[in-house]
Amino acid sequence: MVKLAAFASGQGSNFKAIHRHLKKLSLPGRYVLLISDRPNPPVADFANAEGIPFLHLNAKGFSSRDDYVKRLLTELKAHKVEWITLAGYLKLIPSEVVRAYNGRMMNIHPALLPSFGGKGMYGMNVHNAVVDSGVKVSGASVHMVDEEYDTGPVIIQETVPVTYEDTPEEVAARVLEVEHKIYPQAVELAVKDKIRLHGRRVEILP
Ligand code: GRF
Repeated sequence: MVKLAAFASGQGSNFKAIHRHLKKLSLPGRYVLLISDRPNPPVADFANAEGIPFLHLNAKGFSSRDDYVKRLLTELKAHKVEWITLAGYLKLIPSEVVRAYNGRMMNIHPALLPSFGGKGMYGMNVHNAVVDSGVKVSGASVHMVDEEYDTGPVIIQETVPVTYEDTPEEVAARVLEVEHKIYPQAVELAVKDKIRLHGRRVEILP
């Protein structure tokens, strides 16, 4: 069984979708830890109900950055975490953790990377920018996490149409539906060990 951790700051609808997918299909992966930078995010209630340990860890609660990073790594090790999934986590993951989980940490972004990504591009900012730009498609991207925002290799992308009369909220809802489909698929590939990295290119084994 592949042990997974999730980092989430908010609703955690992606975390829930992944967790349900793993259980429903009896896939060889389970969440063993949920970490949040916030003390009581809505997603923590779901984790509690499902018996998944929840940890509130924020750099601000530590006397030094080093202590914070050490604690993060200690917790991940103690729970024997093999893969990390970021699901609406709004903080940058410390580079030490990214390096420790190189090729074993993924994120979902609510647009077609490398467009509409980067610092400040989260939540409705993304969908506002998409609508303002006039593009005819948007979508979701599951990607590996590297030391920058939204720049890691893409694992799966799926598009949604955008019409001239769409509001950012309508695009967001359409994209979220696709997120709940492709993020569980990507995690399924990870726990089945079907993902291979070739530089920036990701191979999906049959
Ligand atoms: C999603 O749109 C995701 O793409 C982005 O943050 C949002 C989180 O939603 N990274 P949720 O917390 O999973 O419901």
